[in-house]
Amino acid sequence: MARDYQAIRVQPRACGFGAEVTQLSLASALPEAVLAEVRRAWAAHSVLWFPDQPLSLEALEAFTLQLGPFGEDPFIEALPDHPHIIEVRREPGERAVNFGAAWHSDWSFQEKPPSATLLHAKIVPPAGGDTLYADGYRAWEALSETMRELLSGLRAVHSASLAYGPRGVLARDHHERSMKIVVSPEAERTQTHPLVRRHPESGRRALFVNPVYTRGIEGMADSESQALLGFLWEHMVRDEFVYRHRWQPNMLTVWDNRCAMHFADGGYDGHRRLMHRTTVAGERPAA
Ligand code: SIN
Repeated sequence: MARDYQAIRVQPRACGFGAEVTQLSLASALPEAVLAEVRRAWAAHSVLWFPDQPLSLEALEAFTLQLGPFGEDPFIEALPDHPHIIEVRREPGERAVNFGAAWHSDWSFQEKPPSATLLHAKIVPPAGGDTLYADGYRAWEALSETMRELLSGLRAVHSASLAYGPRGVLARDHHERSMKIVVSPEAERTQTHPLVRRHPESGRRALFVNPVYTRGIEGMADSESQALLGFLWEHMVRDEFVYRHRWQPNMLTVWDNRCAMHFADGGYDGHRRLMHRTTVAGERPAA
């Protein structure tokens, strides 16, 4: 257990990536000192989970706003009357692939991708439906110095086209889906970011590329960037960098998109899974 917290209890995983936070209620506004401890834990552990937090939609919005202004969530229809909450829903009979079922960092194709994503579990299937997280800091730190030098100055090209474009995976999946996905030519837009990003709060560097939204590397031939990215896709999700999160109803997680990727696992056909999701606006990634 981490001892340097007065108000909250923080139980990190042995490697430091991911921590459980208890001894607080998120149902009403956190006092400044408690919020500061949550922020410190988040900067230290990248993924936090808060069990036993039955939150109304309004309380989820209010806690999100304590972390920062809402992010902008394109391509998915939000809940009526709650324009900043997405319902991540899959019904028992649904055959469409579950939402988020590939490694990604949320909306990395935006000029200022969200710093945080909050996911609140309402209905959890009896098996399956875990969320996996991959630590971009330790993946970066584990590379050889030669590889780090090669990657350091590079900029990666991000776009939402593979997922949300008119020829993307979601446009081609014609199974009925309970989430309202809005496929759009807007998804073809590209945005470049440093391939290695310095976290504004921790000061640490992390790999900032992901297989869903990173389409290439600036200044490289496609075959070159695909070879380099292909290596990174394998490296970044090595077992030692990955945490598999098992959900309970009323559990909230907050993850840091600036230094971690995530993957929504399936394996719960025949069961309903329902989560509420918000994002917190981020900054322009800096090297
Ligand atoms: C997501 O990618 O935001 C969804 C994660 C999940 O449903 O576990």
